[in-house]
Amino acid sequence: MALLPSIGQPVSRLEGHSKVTGEARYSGDYNVAGLLFGYVVNATITKGKILSINTEAVKTLPGVIEVFTHENRPALAWFDLQYADMDAPPGSPFRPLQNDKIVYNGQPIALVVAETFEMARYGASILEVTYSNEAFSTDLAASIIEARAPKMGLATALKPPPPKPKGDFDKVFNESPVQVAGEYYHGTEHHNPIELFSTTTVYEPDGKLTVYDKTQGTVNSQLYIGNVFGLHYKDVRVISPYVGGAFGSGLRPQYQLFLSVMAALELKRSVRVTLDRSQMYTFGHRPPTIQQTRFAADSSGKLTAMNHTAFAETSMFEDYTEVVVNWANMLYPAPNTKMEYKLVELDVFSPLDMRAPGGSTGLHAIESTMDELSYQLKMDPLELRLLNYAETDESLGRPFSSKELRQCYMQGAEKFGWANRNPEPRSMRRGNKLVGYGMATGIWEANQLPARAQAGIDKDGRLLVGSAVTDIGTGTLTVMTQIAADEFGMRVEDVIFSYGDSKEPFAPIQGGSMTVSTVGSAIKAACAALRKKLFKKARAMNNAALKGVDYKDVDFKEGRIVVREKPDRFVNLTGIVAANKGRMIETTNFSVPHVFKLKKYSRAAHSAVFVEVEVDEELGIINVTRAVTAVAAGKIINPKTARSQILGGMVWSISKALREETISDHRLGKYMNQNLAEYHIPVHADIHDLDVIFVEEDDQVVNELGSKGVGEIGLVGMPPAIANAVYHATGKRINQFPIHFDMLL
Ligand code: MOS
Repeated sequence: MALLPSIGQPVSRLEGHSKVTGEARYSGDYNVAGLLFGYVVNATITKGKILSINTEAVKTLPGVIEVFTHENRPALAWFDLQYADMDAPPGSPFRPLQNDKIVYNGQPIALVVAETFEMARYGASILEVTYSNEAFSTDLAASIIEARAPKMGLATALKPPPPKPKGDFDKVFNESPVQVAGEYYHGTEHHNPIELFSTTTVYEPDGKLTVYDKTQGTVNSQLYIGNVFGLHYKDVRVISPYVGGAFGSGLRPQYQLFLSVMAALELKRSVRVTLDRSQMYTFGHRPPTIQQTRFAADSSGKLTAMNHTAFAETSMFEDYTEVVVNWANMLYPAPNTKMEYKLVELDVFSPLDMRAPGGSTGLHAIESTMDELSYQLKMDPLELRLLNYAETDESLGRPFSSKELRQCYMQGAEKFGWANRNPEPRSMRRGNKLVGYGMATGIWEANQLPARAQAGIDKDGRLLVGSAVTDIGTGTLTVMTQIAADEFGMRVEDVIFSYGDSKEPFAPIQGGSMTVSTVGSAIKAACAALRKKLFKKARAMNNAALKGVDYKDVDFKEGRIVVREKPDRFVNLTGIVAANKGRMIETTNFSVPHVFKLKKYSRAAHSAVFVEVEVDEELGIINVTRAVTAVAAGKIINPKTARSQILGGMVWSISKALREETISDHRLGKYMNQNLAEYHIPVHADIHDLDVIFVEEDDQVVNELGSKGVGEIGLVGMPPAIANAVYHATGKRINQFPIHFDMLL
């Protein structure tokens, strides 16, 4: 039996059993009678035109039903706005099969639909396509001369432009006694959740659609389908209760959704389209970014001037942006700053949010520069951070809603044994291995979006809560159940949370570490409304227990409304439902962020990360032997699932710093390692001692829960901490991710 209150308890995932037994069904697992299978054909050139597609031979294959191309695509929505989903940047969203133009390598150009997956795939493999080629560019480094300011769009609140310049950066930088400058590069990364992208569109007898989609937003996919295909949104139901990893890849409707729905509507049959692993490299990616920093300090180590400039990739058709250069002055006070963010248009698909988009990029440069500055000052890197600790956010001139970063530094350093570090590079050894200690700071914004939720009590006294939100593996089901349970003083076993379904009340896309604050607040609001409704109904029953008692004088506890001062006076919730003829008593309510209050504060989760590496002196092989991440993220609703989020971010940090990169051949404009054999990620043997600390942090501002979200903060600080540890071990500063052994030889 779970303890009360549930918030703060390490409750195990409620869906854990169904996941490990294989009972949980993912978007590609729903089988219906007469299901057809679609397989996508992707362009093999980078830019140009399709001259011909010969579908005849494919159509004669046994079991092949249809081949869709731009030539027989149905007429669809016309305006860009109709294709713009909740995460669409400014520009013109990509439309599959729109016309004969090829705008990136791997662009979907045809869908073969057959009775079996195998026949669809075979048909796709023999489809004859001829092209005419045009000149293209996919090389960021070669093109930054053409960089320009991005257009800003609807999501500017969540992806704000760089802060305005302050003071006189150039003058003060040049006059300061201590100066550091660096250029940082990280390559393209592609989403590779274990579950591939798949959509099963069920064509219902009445022509309505039930769509099982791999997505981070059921309502986002629902509205996209409605807008693009001209359907009433009530005739489209999108279901996605289990998502096998998303990390941002499902924030936008992907082309398999479009193709599956298009084929189902045209053929009036149910159709599944699943992408294969190599096709994961044909949409959305973390953009390669080149960053330049110049930081200056006075001789005591106080920062005087900071410049951070980033050049990032975008596509020819959308201005995808990230928040890369806004962090330095949020973390460190400096009176003179100049922050710039510029985009370079290349012949690639639009980049896409990938866990800690922008933050993990920007902090790589900022925290490596701070490390370099500490050596120039001959000052401990932690001491330098403490000396330049921002009590307020000087980038925007606001206080923080809460900030226990100092405790992160202290508790993290203590747990790690930072005091044992010899400050001299190459001074620590273990056998033939050089040992290095590195540290870095992490920061990630704590935002909230509007959402609705439903809450009801059924005849058995169970609390039924509902939201359209997904659970992308983060623990949303469990955490929302805990939040609802505490609203009624119930055990989590007595709460049923229905989610991952567009027919439930509205929730926005699940991303940006915003789901606990967004959907959790909506659930609190719905539960509060339900409590009032139940109390009113109980009073109307003329029950003696509540005679002369006000709402403010009662508690909801263990299935009862209890008079606080006289706990022997209570009404059972089941009794109230029975008096309602056994019909569930339910209500919906919504929550919106308190914008006017919130905008007076900067709201962010912080972290301090400490890393030990061993570097083989002869071979250059880097091993992350130990790491501690200390996180301040407000109230931690579930320390078990939250810890898993941070651990996942720490594993990914090792991947980002040392392994992961999609390599382009810019002569072909093509990604060359489109599989998990050559797209390197850490394996079990690469992961050693990882430790997570949650620091106490009381936040009365950020939202009613006081919780900031922990999805991304685990991936922000650790990559630079690894680079800094490699420097400490070897005396070599490698400003490029991933760091490969040959760079150290
Ligand atoms: Mo978030 S970018 O959806 O991990």
